[in-house]
Amino acid sequence: MTGKSGFQLRQGGPEVYERCWVRAQLAQSAEELVAAANVSSGDRVIDIACGTGVVARSAAVRSGDAATVTGADVNSDMLAAAARFAADADLADIAWVECDAADIPEQDSKFDVALCQQGLQFMPDKKGALAEMWRVLKPGGRLAITVWKTRSPIGAAFANVFDRHFGEGTAAPWEMVYSLGDRARLRKLASGAGFRNTHITFDVKFARHPDPAAFISGAIAGSPMAEVIAGLSDADHDRLIREILAELSLYHDDDGLAVPAECLTLTALK
Ligand SMILES: C[S@@+](CC[C@H](N)C(=O)[O-])C[C@H]1O[C@@H](n2cnc3c(N)ncnc32)[C@H](O)[C@@H]1O
Repeated sequence: MTGKSGFQLRQGGPEVYERCWVRAQLAQSAEELVAAANVSSGDRVIDIACGTGVVARSAAVRSGDAATVTGADVNSDMLAAAARFAADADLADIAWVECDAADIPEQDSKFDVALCQQGLQFMPDKKGALAEMWRVLKPGGRLAITVWKTRSPIGAAFANVFDRHFGEGTAAPWEMVYSLGDRARLRKLASGAGFRNTHITFDVKFARHPDPAAFISGAIAGSPMAEVIAGLSDADHDRLIREILAELSLYHDDDGLAVPAECLTLTALK
């Protein structure tokens, strides 16, 4: 394996990530991913790069049995938060496994479904991760993966404002979010690992929040950009948030902030 995994949140990061990104955007897209994989009663499901566990929880609700669901992530802080959120949702039987996606400590052909929401782009060994997803699935097992297709307006606002304040390239840890949006590359990764019937759809997910300033503040704190702003005074922090909001002035509706993000969903069979 070369390089380091991206999107590594520590300390309070996972809680903020859950309150902000999951509530505003990823809870809805998790339900769509679980539906795309047609998770059904009796399915054994693994959620890879599970983060705070939103996809695992969604799969457990849909399958009706939390004990058949496993979440796996390389980040122990994310997993600890995932276990707390699952217990709060009466889904304490979900199993949590700390591992790199390229080395999953599960037996061959154990799962009916492998899911990965917005995680593959952060993995240094993407081929190894797809090979592991293939290995742990049963023959005929279903794979469903999402990655962002292009840089969203939030990403553009982050890049503009962070680069302006802290120097060009400061938003690089965030740019990784959008680094796997090429449909041909995504398909090649899956078919190269042995998956068949690869099918990729393109749609738009929204980040919605009634309080735009609270959302942007949390969106940064619950992201790899948190370290960049850690030393700012309250006044400088608030100025930064206002500048980012000004860049997003077009993305509002009567319910608050509503920012679109282009997404690819790949489904395939082992
Ligand atoms: C943007 S978060 C997505 C989390 C979750 N899937 C969701 O939808 O909220 C990306 C996650 O990928 C995980 N990750 C990054 N590289 C990884 C790797 N090599 N193996 C396993 N997980 C990884 C990070 O720790 C982080 O939890």
